[in-house]
Amino acid sequence: MILLIKMDKVGASLLRWLTLLIWFFLMVKLTAASREVFQNENGKFLGVRLHKNHHQMVMDNGLVQVTLSSPGGDITGIQYNGIHNVLETKNREGNRGYWDVVWNVPGNHIAYDRLKGTDFNVIMEDEDQVELSFKKTWNFTNGNSSAPLNVDKRYIMRRGSSGVYLYAILERLEGWPDMDMDQIRIVFKLQNDKFHFMAVSDDRQRVMPTPRDRLDAQRLAYPEAVLLTNPTNTLLRGEVDDKYQYSCENKDNRVHGWISENPPVGFWMITPSDEFRAGGPLKQDLTSHVGPTTLSMFTSTHYSGKDLNTKYRNGKPWKKVLGPVFVYLNSISSLEDPTTLWEDAKDQMSIEVNSWPYDFPQSEDFPSSNRRGNVSGQLLVGDKYISDNPMWASYAYVGLAAPGGVGSWQREAKGYQFWVQADEEGHFLIENIRAGHYNLYAWVPGIVGDCRYDVIIYIQPGSDVKLGVLVYEPPRNGPTLWEIGIPDRTAAEFFVPDTYPTLVNKLFINQSTHKFRQYGLWERYSDLYPKHDLTYTIGISNYHQDWFFAQVPRY
Ligand SMILES: *[C@@H]1O[C@H](CO)[C@@H](O)[C@H](O)[C@H]1NC(C)=O
Ligand SMILES: *[C@@H]1O[C@H](CO)[C@@H](O)[C@H](O)[C@H]1NC(C)=O
Ligand SMILES: *[C@@H]1O[C@H](CO)[C@@H](O)[C@H](O)[C@H]1NC(C)=O
Ligand SMILES: *[C@@H]1O[C@H](CO)[C@@H](O)[C@H](O)[C@H]1NC(C)=O
Repeated sequence: MILLIKMDKVGASLLRWLTLLIWFFLMVKLTAASREVFQNENGKFLGVRLHKNHHQMVMDNGLVQVTLSSPGGDITGIQYNGIHNVLETKNREGNRGYWDVVWNVPGNHIAYDRLKGTDFNVIMEDEDQVELSFKKTWNFTNGNSSAPLNVDKRYIMRRGSSGVYLYAILERLEGWPDMDMDQIRIVFKLQNDKFHFMAVSDDRQRVMPTPRDRLDAQRLAYPEAVLLTNPTNTLLRGEVDDKYQYSCENKDNRVHGWISENPPVGFWMITPSDEFRAGGPLKQDLTSHVGPTTLSMFTSTHYSGKDLNTKYRNGKPWKKVLGPVFVYLNSISSLEDPTTLWEDAKDQMSIEVNSWPYDFPQSEDFPSSNRRGNVSGQLLVGDKYISDNPMWASYAYVGLAAPGGVGSWQREAKGYQFWVQADEEGHFLIENIRAGHYNLYAWVPGIVGDCRYDVIIYIQPGSDVKLGVLVYEPPRNGPTLWEIGIPDRTAAEFFVPDTYPTLVNKLFINQSTHKFRQYGLWERYSDLYPKHDLTYTIGISNYHQDWFFAQVPRY
């Protein structure tokens, strides 16, 4: 202090230089230290650490730091690559990264349950892996105040892995009250100031509007769809935003998420298997949407309604493991193209798919590969109106699902399903099937009808069931006289109109695959056929042009 007071101008500037020098020295030391947190001298990743305190648990592997509320088990923070929290800090802690179910007592109102844990346990804690459990136990004194479910939410962090694994074991015990369970999901809400670019597939990626833009927008036929009238990013003015335009079929829903430009960071939901999803490979569901929100949908009544088997009745016990799914974070230098984050996320997705089923989750309820079984065979089509000899069921979809009627897999939501696509000759190999009873179902692109192999298949750990040659005989009363379209469970070959120029999502302009997702196409039918329904003349009409892709009401 005395020195400073006595100092002249020259002295002061010297001191400033000295301070700068000390700063510089400190920064070099600090950077070196923070690098050491990630890796030691041999380039090996350092261990996972768990910090516990009263109300939160922090898992840290030097790459990612994940903070969870305890004993609730919500993810309240994800620190990564200099971003203190990639989740929206303006939201309260329980509204950033959480599980929830939509359920009801039969005949009662719809209710939401955030599946808050009441009981916290460390399942595993060493340098290679930390696994945490947040449990919620239901009993009759809870009445209908929460869903009659036991829940065990698990979170795993591994050494050198840039993210966190999530799974949950849901269970209902014998004699528990009836319930409907319409939806089970994980929700992440990201920093609105950072994440503006969304990618759900190679052909669906774009700069997205903000939640604020949606508040200012014009509401369309249903609350999810709006017309952006005054968006912050003026380039988006006049476009439609609707989260259902980013839905995806289960079979294709493996990775989706968001990119922050500054710093360039990606946040991705990777789902390595859809064995735990409902309704089979063609069931669609939400992915990511304005928020910025990223979901992992396990089951929902979207695109199906209550026809999906969501009713839990007669005190029948039930248990299901949902996940693990992987929340993956990646980054690049600011000089690189941010879309390389999407390419890297797809590479990581392949790594996760190839590691399935994982061998590291600690729950007894998640069997690793050696406690699962295989089913293989060859599917042929026997249709003497097409060919004298059975034909290969080329590229057939073949799957195992709970025993049930023909086509019942489409409504099945309680069990596990295992689907593959056969090769050109109809050979199929379904691997890593969980123990249990199944029917084998199939459909063959280009062939009418639904196939079910009538024998119940019992899988035990290590089962290797070889079914040999199976012949599917499509329902026939005689030869085909005429047909409209291709029996392949898509409407892609039919006529999909352009939407109104005032109601576009630019993403789907000049794009055939997802053109049907444009808003308002149902109204185009009345425009095209104002006086009466369409007339299709066999032998003259062409279904690419003359058959509307959806059957909708006319005004
Ligand atoms: C049932 O739940 C209530 C409320 O959560 C709890 O106080 C009680 O101890 C539980 N009873 C049993 C038998 O677990
Ligand atoms: C629980 O039951 C009461 C009485 O029947 C009813 O008023 C209430 O709406 C129910 N709550 C839920 C979530 O179903
Ligand atoms: C299942 O099939 C895979 C691939 O052919 C094989 O490696 C594995 O040993 C099989 N599992 C059983 C239980 O036979
Ligand atoms: C669609 O294609 C037309 C004709 O090639 C082109 O003029 C237009 O800019 C394209 N629109 C978009 C949004 O890509």
